[in-house]
Amino acid sequence: MWNLTLPYSTHLALIGLMVVIYIIFEALWNSIVIIIAILTPFFNPNEDTSLLKKFGPWALVTGSTDGIGKAYAFELAKRGINIVLVSRNEEKLKKTAEEIENKHLVKTKIIVADFSQVQKAVDTVKEKLGTLKIDILVNNVGKNYDYPLYLTEIPENLIVDIININTGAVTLMCRAFIEDMKKRGKGAIVNVSSGSELHPLPLMNVYAATKAYVKSFTAGLRYEYRNSGVTIQHLAPFFVNTNMSAFVPMFQRNNFIVPNAENYAKFAVMTLGKLTDTSGFWSHGIQRFIVKMCPTWIAIRGGANLNKIFRRDYINSRKKFDE
Ligand SMILES: NC(=O)c1ccc[n+]([C@@H]2O[C@H](COP(=O)([O-])OP(=O)(O)OC[C@H]3O[C@@H](n4cnc5c(N)ncnc54)[C@H](OP(=O)(O)O)[C@@H]3O)[C@@H](O)[C@H]2O)c1
Repeated sequence: MWNLTLPYSTHLALIGLMVVIYIIFEALWNSIVIIIAILTPFFNPNEDTSLLKKFGPWALVTGSTDGIGKAYAFELAKRGINIVLVSRNEEKLKKTAEEIENKHLVKTKIIVADFSQVQKAVDTVKEKLGTLKIDILVNNVGKNYDYPLYLTEIPENLIVDIININTGAVTLMCRAFIEDMKKRGKGAIVNVSSGSELHPLPLMNVYAATKAYVKSFTAGLRYEYRNSGVTIQHLAPFFVNTNMSAFVPMFQRNNFIVPNAENYAKFAVMTLGKLTDTSGFWSHGIQRFIVKMCPTWIAIRGGANLNKIFRRDYINSRKKFDE
C-alpha cells in the first residue's frame, strides 16, 4: 500500500491527512454514538430496561432536586430503577421523591446532606443507606459562582465550598461505593464535570479547574478498575438551561444548543454503558469537537472575552433591577 517511489513530502502529507481524519472521527464519534443511542429504543423495545438489567435496581443521584440531577433521576426511574435522592433541602427532596413515585412505579429514599461539608455528608449518606446497595452512582452535585468573577472577588469560603463540592464529593463518593460494586462485578459511576474542563477558563477559573480535576480523576479511576466490571463515565455537559446557567439570560431559552435539563438528561442517560467520556448531548458533542480542536491560547482568550461580556451584562441587569 505504501508506495516508496513517492516523494518524501507526499508521505508526510499522507500521514498528516490520516492524523486529521483520526482526530475528526474521534471527536465526532461522540455525536454519532449519541444519535445511535437515541435511535436504538425504536429498534429494541427492551432498551428501556437494559440499564436495570445491566447494573441493578438502585441508583443514587447527588444534587437531585433541581436541574440535571433531578432530570437524570427521572430518566433512571422511567427505566424502573429505584432512586436515592441526596441534596440539602428536605422539603425539596420530599417533593421530588413524591413526584418520581407518582410518575414511575419505583421506590425512592431521601438523604439530606450538604457536600460543602464533604466528609460529614459522605458519612451521612453511608449511615442512612445502611445495607442498601447502590448500583448506579451519579455524582452530579456541583457549584459555581453566580456570575463570572476574578479570583480575589470570590469570597474565600465560596472557593472552599466549590472545591469541596466539585472535587471532594466526587472523590469520596467514588471511594465509598466502588469497592462494593467491584465485589459484585457490576455497577456504574457517572461523574459530571463540564465542557469547561477542556481548557482553562478565566473568570470561571476555580470552577473550570475543579472540572478538569473530575475529568482527570475519572480517567485514572477507570484505569484502576478496568477489570472490575464497573462502568465509569465522565459526563461533561456544555450549557444546559438550569439555575446554574441563569446568569446568562440567553441560556434561559431552550434550544438545540442549550437544552433544558429534561432534554439533556434524556440523551445523557442513553449514553450510559455506551460511552465512557461524553458531553451527553448531540449538539454538545459538536461544541466539544470545536472547543477541543481550538489551540489552548485561543480558547483561553475566547472564553475570557465571552465571560467578560456575560459579567458586564449581568452587572448591568443587576443595576437596572436595583434602580
Ligand atoms: N447547567 C449547566 O449549564 C451546566 C454545564 C456544565 C456542567 N454542569 C454541571 O452539572 C451538574 C448539575 O448542575 P445543574 O445546572 O443541574 O445545577 P443546579 O440546577 O444548580 O442544581 C444543583 C442541585 O444540587 C443541589 N445542591 C447544591 N449545593 C449542594 C450541596 N452543597 N450539597 C448537596 N446538594 C447540593 C441542589 O439542591 P439544594 O439546593 O436543595 O441542595 C440542586 O438539587 C453540576 O455538577 C454542574 O457543574 C452544569
